Amino acid sequence: MKNQQKVEDLIDRRIQAKLGGGEKRIESQHKKGKLTARERIDLLLDEGSFEELDMFVTHRCNDFGIGDEKYMGDGVVTGHGTIDGRIVFVYAQDFTVFGGSLSETMALKICKVMDMAMKMGAPIIGINDSGGARIQEGVTSLAGYAEIFQRNIMASGVVPQISAIYGPCAGGAVYSPALTDFILMTEDNSYMFVTGPKVVKSVTGEDITTQDLGGADVHARKSGVSHFKVENEKEGTMLIRKLISYMPQNNLEEPPLTANDDPIDRLEDSLNSIIPDNPNMPYDMKDIIHSIVDNNEFLEVHRHYARNIIVGFARFNGAPTGIVANQPNFLAGVLDCDASRKAARFVRFCDAFNIPILTLVDVPGFLPGSGQEYAGIIIHGAKLMFAYGEATVPKVTVTIRKSYGGAHDVMSSKQLRGDFNYAWPTAEIAVMGAAGAIEVLEGKNISKINDENEKKEYIDKKVTEYKRKFANPYQAASYGYIDDVIEPRNTRFRVIRAFEALQTKKVVNPPRKHANIPL
Ligand code: HXC
Repeated sequence: MKNQQKVEDLIDRRIQAKLGGGEKRIESQHKKGKLTARERIDLLLDEGSFEELDMFVTHRCNDFGIGDEKYMGDGVVTGHGTIDGRIVFVYAQDFTVFGGSLSETMALKICKVMDMAMKMGAPIIGINDSGGARIQEGVTSLAGYAEIFQRNIMASGVVPQISAIYGPCAGGAVYSPALTDFILMTEDNSYMFVTGPKVVKSVTGEDITTQDLGGADVHARKSGVSHFKVENEKEGTMLIRKLISYMPQNNLEEPPLTANDDPIDRLEDSLNSIIPDNPNMPYDMKDIIHSIVDNNEFLEVHRHYARNIIVGFARFNGAPTGIVANQPNFLAGVLDCDASRKAARFVRFCDAFNIPILTLVDVPGFLPGSGQEYAGIIIHGAKLMFAYGEATVPKVTVTIRKSYGGAHDVMSSKQLRGDFNYAWPTAEIAVMGAAGAIEVLEGKNISKINDENEKKEYIDKKVTEYKRKFANPYQAASYGYIDDVIEPRNTRFRVIRAFEALQTKKVVNPPRKHANIPL
């Protein structure tokens, strides 16, 4: 073959490789409303930035008659490119090749880009669309999965890892996404479960559809496995790009600063009257979040799960910040098992990647009852406490209204190394709410009063006394547990000032192999 022909041969091979499992299967993929692996990567990365690797890799299996059925690249497209000019490593499973099922060589390709991401200190993004283990390959496929899992574990807290689920993700295959920092799923086309509907039916007799068992809605709302539910792949891709914009490349870097045109001293007058006079009336904590962050932009994580707590990313004067806030609009903002786990995971992500944390508190306490106790609220609540207490990133807390009991301690209190703890004048920081406190303290006296009117009068008097003494921020401020009581409309400015003062914060936890967070 002449040299010119060799070049033409290369071009032909590339064209062939880019067809994956062939035009018919690409068509079938499109008919399902799904993009191909390469289309997905092109959409995700800056235009023209993708550099593909291992395009000529093929599988090595000769069993079940697939020895001659080889597709260049096998069932995954891998490489690197940029998002807003910053390098990321990617892999996208190619459903047109053996249903994207994982072969030994596919695992090697994925591991190669994961290793490179670690070496270069860059995020890794995996796009999942696969029928699971390549059945013809047996244990080498299982070993391949485990090689990937091990790398997910080693990369955790070192480089950000994001998983998009754009098709099937079942069996043990779910554990790679589960080990990553964020999972997003498309409605209708994606699903995740350890065992599918057929096995469920044969083992437990339960009749359930694929979507009801492991669709995007189920995982976004019920299990919390998925952090984001998106309508389609385009929306998912834009979301990944946005998410990445809040993160540093790795744990040794600071998150990227962006130019900010929102005045840092912008006063938000509406905040002075946002809290209802009746302490039992809800309001939307998201209104407060939106009004204090740069350009009202807030990227909420886990929007549909444990809605009594809000977590997500925003910027203050251009600096990425993680926000954790109780939501009085849902279950009165109480802390329960799910909310505690959700917030703990988010706090730990921020801490791992040097993202400062703002905590907005309005929490009536932990949710009482046998349901929560049996579900292990003790352990789950401890997770959140542990996460806050362990975190060494700058931590600013603003108590908006209620901050009662154990939940007060948990929500980034001064004693859990909160750096600046502010409160609005509407804050109520106490061991418990007034009604409950009076029941405990005055129970005996109340029971001695027979006349109902007299009883009510007595209780009201004691409740008022208790509220005067405790339902305010000043007792906590008198001990220095609250650094300042701030005017609500000036919250943005005070928060930005606080984070600016914390830019050089250095706190190091004691040396140890690793902590033993109550899992
Ligand atoms: C090899 C596979 C495959 C697999 C699909 N294909 N899954 N080949 N190994 N696991 C092939 C099909 O033969 C078909 O080939 C092509 O991919 C597309 O599959 P279809 O079935 O036509 O597609 P669809 O109707 O969309 O159904 C998709 C599917 C289904 C739901 C994923 O294919 C399916 O149930 N596959 C098997 C899933 C499974 O049981 N996997 C193993 C799980 S155990 P042609 O040539 O016709 O295009 C596991 C353990 C992992 O994963 C443990 C890790 C620790």
